Amino acid sequence: MQTFLELAKARYSVRNYLTKHVEEEKLNYILECGRIAPSAANYQPWIINVVRDPDLRKKLIDTYNREWLNQAPVILVFLGDHRQGWKRSDGKDHTDIDIAIIADHITLAAAEQGLGTCWICNFDAAGCSRALNLPDHLEPIAYLSLGYPADSTDQTSRHLKRKPFEEIIKFDQI
Ligand SMILES: Cc1cc2nc3c(=O)[nH]c(=O)nc-3n(C[C@H](O)[C@H](O)[C@H](O)COP(=O)(O)O)c2cc1C
Repeated sequence: MQTFLELAKARYSVRNYLTKHVEEEKLNYILECGRIAPSAANYQPWIINVVRDPDLRKKLIDTYNREWLNQAPVILVFLGDHRQGWKRSDGKDHTDIDIAIIADHITLAAAEQGLGTCWICNFDAAGCSRALNLPDHLEPIAYLSLGYPADSTDQTSRHLKRKPFEEIIKFDQI
């Protein structure tokens, strides 16, 4: 059985996909792994839009025009509902944090299933809202491309580059 560390290391940003269909069972499994994610005060201020329809995919790709996104058979759009997100007493809205957690669960679950994902935040958010006809209270916060990796060895150098343990972990005093 794969340890968590092995799984976390196996996940990388996939930017090269096969046209192979993602099985419904696997898709539902990874979405369920997201659904159970924790959120601030358990408010769960999220909706995941699973986009497979060719016309809708095309509209989304127009908001982040990359050949590899066009290859991915599924695009997951993570919508944050700021009306529902927990606000700390100083007003800080935790919706973005909650969305990051649910999306991260999904990237890891997908990796466990042999599927690839890539986080995408550099998209035209207003264009996405128009494409999906979103109401004002739903913000498109992130996309994940999803599909079978075309080449499991094509991690970028960025994937292997992480700050050293000592630089980022501080025990007690900073
Ligand atoms: C919040 C967030 C936003 C990101 N947005 C993009 C993006 O718009 N386009 C892209 O190609 N990669 C994007 N990435 C992927 C990062 O570049 C990638 O995770 C990082 O370089 C480490 O590589 P790895 O995921 O292969 O380990 C994003 C990642 C995160 C966590």
